[in-house]
Amino acid sequence: MSRIAVVGAGYMGGGIAQAFALAGHDVTLADSSAEVAEKAVERLVAEGEKYAADGLFPDGAGAVLAQRLHAAPDAAAAVADAWYVTEAVFERIDVKHDVLRTICEAAPADAVIGTNTSAIPIAELAEAVTGPERFLGVHWMNPSYFVPCVEVIPTTRTDAAVVERVADLLREAGKQPTVVADTPGFVANRLQFALYKECTRMVEEGAATPAQIDEVVRNSFGFRLPFFGPFLISDIAGLDVYRASMATLERDLGERLAVPQALTDQVEAGRLGLKSGEGFFPHGPEDAERLRRYRDAGYAWLAALRAQLDAEG
Ligand SMILES: NC(=O)c1ccc[n+]([C@@H]2O[C@H](COP(=O)([O-])OP(=O)(O)OC[C@H]3O[C@@H](n4cnc5c(N)ncnc54)[C@H](O)[C@@H]3O)[C@@H](O)[C@H]2O)c1
Repeated sequence: MSRIAVVGAGYMGGGIAQAFALAGHDVTLADSSAEVAEKAVERLVAEGEKYAADGLFPDGAGAVLAQRLHAAPDAAAAVADAWYVTEAVFERIDVKHDVLRTICEAAPADAVIGTNTSAIPIAELAEAVTGPERFLGVHWMNPSYFVPCVEVIPTTRTDAAVVERVADLLREAGKQPTVVADTPGFVANRLQFALYKECTRMVEEGAATPAQIDEVVRNSFGFRLPFFGPFLISDIAGLDVYRASMATLERDLGERLAVPQALTDQVEAGRLGLKSGEGFFPHGPEDAERLRRYRDAGYAWLAALRAQLDAEG
């Protein structure tokens, strides 16, 4: 299959390279030197062998990775015949700008270029790219092989066909691409850090310890999140119920946790979620039973899986 290049063979670049190689692509890796890239390939192959032995990667993953991962002497050599390049170097705009300039000079003029930045605006990174219509954010989560989501982040200048091509590439590698806007933290990190900020605030106020917070989160709403996102959870709970609870938080904690206007609008329009047939999503008559079955099966499996993993230590 077609050739992919990854510049920055650290934690994320290495994982992305494994995911593409196990999906059938030849992947060339570059880092700060040929030696670092070679060491990275050795590490990724050894990890593949171990993960396959543990049943976490497909059988024979080590051999597949040894065949399909290639170390390049530098970034220019890695990208010379690539149709898709992703950079996963340090999260510093100056370093990323330098690397993107090198990639643009050395890669084919029509190569698609992605950045794995966690939070730098894609439009700011695009300033270093020649042909910005071929450039976009392609933000993997860690560990790349296992976590389904990849945020695909076009700028206003990215070609729509490029977005589709990258989304297809990711789907073929078993990922779940979601196209999102180029806003601070995109979706995943903005939400993750908003929660983290409130957690640390509770600790600072003495309201809870880190251990108490982690225990409650993983055993409460965190237990639901593998199956439902926050909006579907609110539709299931009832938007009127949500509004009433949030009103108390607003009274006691202020503007930061005020009832959102979008929630008030839904309730005032009579859209209360599952029980009224519409909330943030439309719900057909069979949805309640279907969601209940999905929820119960999911929760039972998750509880059993956790019990097994805890028993194994
Ligand atoms: N670690 C995570 O959980 C995570 C998750 C999503 C996105 N990201 C993003 O992925 C990117 C990489 O993060 P990481 O955790 O893999 O970091 P890392 O430190 O493990 O890897 C970065 C690699 O880039 C290499 N590098 C640095 N400058 C270079 C250059 N000029 N040319 C070639 N290689 C160079 C380094 O030697 C290193 O191997 C960052 O933008 C980070 O924000 C990280």
